[in-house]
Amino acid sequence: MINTAIPCSEPWGMLPGSQPVRLFTLRNAQGMKVAISDLGATLVSWLAPDRAGRLGDVVLGHDTPAEYLASTAYMGAIVGRWANRIAGARFVLDGVEYTLDRNEGPNLLHGGNAGFHRALWDAEEDDGGLVMRLHSEEGEAGFPGNVDVTVRYSLDDEGELSIEYGARSDAPTPINLTNHAYFNLTGEPGTDIRGHVVSIESDRFFEVDAALIPCSESLVAGNAFDFRQSAPIGARLDWPHAQLTIAGGFDHCYVLPGTALEGRPVREVARAYDPTSGRELTVSTDQRGLQFYTGNFLDDEPGRNGSRYARHAGFCLEAGAFPNEINRLERDHLIVRPDKPYRQVTKYRLGVAANA
Ligand code: BGC
Repeated sequence: MINTAIPCSEPWGMLPGSQPVRLFTLRNAQGMKVAISDLGATLVSWLAPDRAGRLGDVVLGHDTPAEYLASTAYMGAIVGRWANRIAGARFVLDGVEYTLDRNEGPNLLHGGNAGFHRALWDAEEDDGGLVMRLHSEEGEAGFPGNVDVTVRYSLDDEGELSIEYGARSDAPTPINLTNHAYFNLTGEPGTDIRGHVVSIESDRFFEVDAALIPCSESLVAGNAFDFRQSAPIGARLDWPHAQLTIAGGFDHCYVLPGTALEGRPVREVARAYDPTSGRELTVSTDQRGLQFYTGNFLDDEPGRNGSRYARHAGFCLEAGAFPNEINRLERDHLIVRPDKPYRQVTKYRLGVAANA
């Protein structure tokens, strides 16, 4: 009998320089299997039952570490030091201007040129979960402070995958981490996510400029961005809206309820349901922002088992700070200091919907 509480691990190829990459598996009593690699602390695969009990992979992934290194899709990875964009790849902290990597036009995207998603993390089993650790040197991508990051993945018997983030720095620095999983609950590679029915508990989102930098807050009421009542992604993608044209679909940060900047409770903020399989995903977080991204830039991306991923093959619900929030007036809560570590908790729960 398998002891589901102990993650097992297996070799998963080599990085250039002969560094071995490993794949760890978390299991639960429902037969779910979650595979996580120490390359990028990446959620590589999540096998979950459909309404008939058949296992299917609900996240997009590549077959090899080399494909992860070559890709710009950030599939399933932990993204940092700063997830999403920083406009002009710059910010000012305590009177000093910091210049960051410009890896998307004039802006920084997802941690800059190196990024946590391409790093090899230290991994160890911890009380049934998997703890990943990474050291990021002062000056990496232009950020101040030597930073030590911890990400703990754990899977419970109800199908909830918890991701607990922590980071410490020896000098003040902004930190904003997220997981960049692309979900497709059908479990069928090569399909799109248009049929998924999504709800997001938010009445506001950030409109973006042509470089996808937030420029103003906008209400969702009466337009394509209103997911307070659940709606199929495809129908909403077809709804005329200048913001959907700019981004080629949804690539926008929703403002989650609650005015507290810090110390927020973990609460359910979004759901996605796939009518074909009956699978349902629930997202809970203590963060203020939720980036809803419908895989608009996926373009013949190499997928699992030789499949290819096209536009809208998956969607992401990335919890974190607001994009470019470090350049907003109110941003002290984003600064990690030697006496003030970074914390985040986000949980993805998978099950079969009650009425499926
Ligand atoms: C961003 C997209 C970006 C994608 C990269 C998302 O988090 O919002 O604009 O293209 O990551 O895969």
